[in-house]
Amino acid sequence: MKEWTLEERYRVLESPEDIRGLYERIRTSDYRQTYHVQPVTGLSSDPNGFTYHDGKWHLFYQWCPWGAVHGLKYWYHVTSPDLISWDNAGVGLRPDKIYDNKGNHSGSAICANDELYFFYTGNHRDENWVRTPYTCAAKLGADGKPEKLPEPLFGPRADYSEHQRDPKVIYVPEKGKYYIFIGAQTLDERGTVLIYESEELLKGWSFAGELKVPGYENFGGMWECPCIERISGKDLLLFSPQYTKLPGRAESTNHNVYLIGQMDFDTLTFTPETDYRYLDFGFDYYAAQLASNVEDPDKSIIIAWIGLPDNHYPTEPEEWEGSMTLPRELRIKDGHLIQSPITGIEELRGEEIAPEGTILPACEIQVDIGEGDFDLNLYTKEDGTGGMTCHYDAETKTCTIDRTGMEKRFNEKVGEVLSVPLEQPLYKMRIFIDHSSTEFFINDGEATFTTHSYPTKEEFGYTVSDNAQMKIWQMKASVKDTFVI
Ligand code: FRU
Repeated sequence: MKEWTLEERYRVLESPEDIRGLYERIRTSDYRQTYHVQPVTGLSSDPNGFTYHDGKWHLFYQWCPWGAVHGLKYWYHVTSPDLISWDNAGVGLRPDKIYDNKGNHSGSAICANDELYFFYTGNHRDENWVRTPYTCAAKLGADGKPEKLPEPLFGPRADYSEHQRDPKVIYVPEKGKYYIFIGAQTLDERGTVLIYESEELLKGWSFAGELKVPGYENFGGMWECPCIERISGKDLLLFSPQYTKLPGRAESTNHNVYLIGQMDFDTLTFTPETDYRYLDFGFDYYAAQLASNVEDPDKSIIIAWIGLPDNHYPTEPEEWEGSMTLPRELRIKDGHLIQSPITGIEELRGEEIAPEGTILPACEIQVDIGEGDFDLNLYTKEDGTGGMTCHYDAETKTCTIDRTGMEKRFNEKVGEVLSVPLEQPLYKMRIFIDHSSTEFFINDGEATFTTHSYPTKEEFGYTVSDNAQMKIWQMKASVKDTFVI
């Protein structure tokens, strides 16, 4: 594996020509996605600035141009008319100010007065590599590119650690104010959220206090990428707690959880009405963000990074890594989150493949499952062995997904076997396979499971138990892999 020097990781992109060769090389990889957003070159991680504005969806991702490494981060911009087909729109934010000299870190977007505003973390480091995270803003310009404010909105607080980042901005009509939620860490290394408030978007911000979440005072060492949204009269709080192990997550120390409850902006208290739950039960899912400006009060759209911090993936030697999940629709039903693939994704279905025991590098599988235990093995070899196994145990209502049988194994120490506890008996799965990812939607969105997957040319089969009816469609390409910088 390549050892990166600090200079290489934090090199500034001077010209598109610096990475054209890299782009030409990686675009021929067998693992390039065809209907999922992926990095134009290098590495993509968190989704940022996800919103609908002026007839278009805007999405950015944390981008390090140089290879499969976390270094100097840009916001790379993609747009879509329908959340299904995506176009590359070039660099959105670049680290060109003193206050963000070592990266434009994660953040969100909001529409106000027909304008689109972005809030992000300016990651500043001094010559001794001491970090100062600033909360910064930008506005979409007439040329379709975000234009930064000359100065940050505010700096970090001295009574918390250097981990203060990932602003999520919202408007709360009852209070007539904007709020920013910032993922943070206390000086004694507990994860939390800091709340700032202002009556105006681009000025007047003051610290309102720390978010109180009764029962979650000591839950992980840092809460990355907090996000809050009101759906069907409930508040939904998402965050990615790290530096802790959680039940059912093997050795992983990075997670993405949600709470459903009520947010009181007078007392800055989020009162959960349920226990925390995982947003997704898979190996590779993190930093989920809800779209802003979704007009339906009963639904939200969520997208996440297929990947985890500090993990390594088999495309690393090809000098790229990462992908976004499919956008998913979220609803709340009986105190639970229901997640469905984005409406209209069926339009990507091409030919239906007669179930002859093979899958394609880009396909959708739908399985209707009868009573009892169930087994589905994906990416098996010609003789039916190996691959990724999915076993459902009817007695415990648990689905277990095991990727140890794949030729290309990765992150073995973090865990290669995870289970999904279900509330209802398993009756249905929709599985979206792209060249390097697999997403399971279980029981019409009761649970989801996301993993990277890198089948070799010999891993194209499947086996399925008799109590199931299976359909497979080829999926058409919908994400353009163009060189726009
Ligand atoms: C989460 C995260 C954020 C940060 C960004 C930097 O993956 O660590 O907290 O803003 O990535 O790329």
